[in-house]
Amino acid sequence: MSYETIIVETHGRVGLVRLNRPQALNALNSTLIGELDRALDGFDKDAGIGCVVLTGSEKAFAAGADIKEMQSLSFPDTYLDDFITSWDRIGHKRKPIVAAVAGFALGGGCELAMMCDFILAADTAKFGQPEIKLGVMPGAGGTQRLTRFVGKAKAMEMCLTGRMMDASEAERAGLVSRVVPAAELVDEAMKVAAQIAGMSLPIAMMTKESVNRAYETTLAEGIRFERRVFHAMFATRDQKEGMTAFVEKRKPDFSHG
Ligand code: HXC
Repeated sequence: MSYETIIVETHGRVGLVRLNRPQALNALNSTLIGELDRALDGFDKDAGIGCVVLTGSEKAFAAGADIKEMQSLSFPDTYLDDFITSWDRIGHKRKPIVAAVAGFALGGGCELAMMCDFILAADTAKFGQPEIKLGVMPGAGGTQRLTRFVGKAKAMEMCLTGRMMDASEAERAGLVSRVVPAAELVDEAMKVAAQIAGMSLPIAMMTKESVNRAYETTLAEGIRFERRVFHAMFATRDQKEGMTAFVEKRKPDFSHG
C-alpha cells in the first residue's frame, strides 16, 4: 500500500511507521491520521508482526494537529464531523506500539505518543501541550492521559501555560520509559520492539490489555481482570513452551498460540 504522509516498513517481526510531513514538522492532518490508522490496522491483522515502532524525524515526532487545517473550522463543522474522534482508533490497536520520540512532541503529537504503549525518548525530545496559546485546549486525550502519567501538578501547569518538558524531566515525571542519545533512538526502539516481538504474541497482547486496564478501572476490578487473564494463559501452547524451556535450560520457541 502506498502512503503520502507516512513511511511504512517491516523488519522481521517488527513494523516501523515514520511520520513523514517534514515541511510541517509532521503536523497531524486528517490524511496522516487516516493513513496511520490503516497502517496500524494492517500490522494488527498481520500474524507475522509482533510489535510496532512509531517515530517521526530528528526534529519532530509531531508538532501537533495541523493548525492550518483547524484554523477556519466552526463549531458545527467539528461537531458534525465528530472532529478528532477518529484519533481514538490509534489508541485502540491490539499489538504493542512503542513511540520513539525525538524533537518536538507537542499538542496532538504529545497526545499521539501517549496513545502508544510506552515512549522511548531521545535526549532532544520536548513534550508539551501548547494548545492554550492557540485559544483551545488538548482535544485528543492530553488533559486526561498526561494527568494520569505525570500527576495533576505538572499536567495542569503544562496545559495552562504551554510550557515544554525536556527529556530528562519527562523521564523523572514518568512520561517516558527511558532516554537514549538521539543518534541511537530508532535502533534502540527497534531492538526493544524485536525483543517484545520475540515473546508470545497472544501473551504480549494480553499483557498490554491488562496494563491498560489499570487506567480504566478500580484496583479491585483491575486485579480481578488480571487474574482471569492470567488463568487463561494456561490454555496457551506458549505457556507450556515457556515454562518447559526454563526447566530444560533452553530458550523458548514460542509458536504464538
Ligand atoms: C501546521 C505546523 C505546525 C502545526 C509547525 N508547522 N507546527 N503547521 N500545524 N501544528 C509548520 C510551520 O507553519 C512551518 O511551515 C513549518 O512547520 C516549520 O515550523 P517553524 O515554526 O518555522 O519551525 P520552528 O521555528 O523550528 O518552531 C518549531 C515549533 C513551532 C516550536 C514546533 O513550529 C510551533 O510552535 N508549532 C506549533 C506547535 C503547536 O502549537 N502545537 C499544537 C497544535 S494544536 P511554513 O510553511 O510556515 O514554513 C493541537 C491540538 C490537538 O495539536 C487537539 C486535538 C488533536
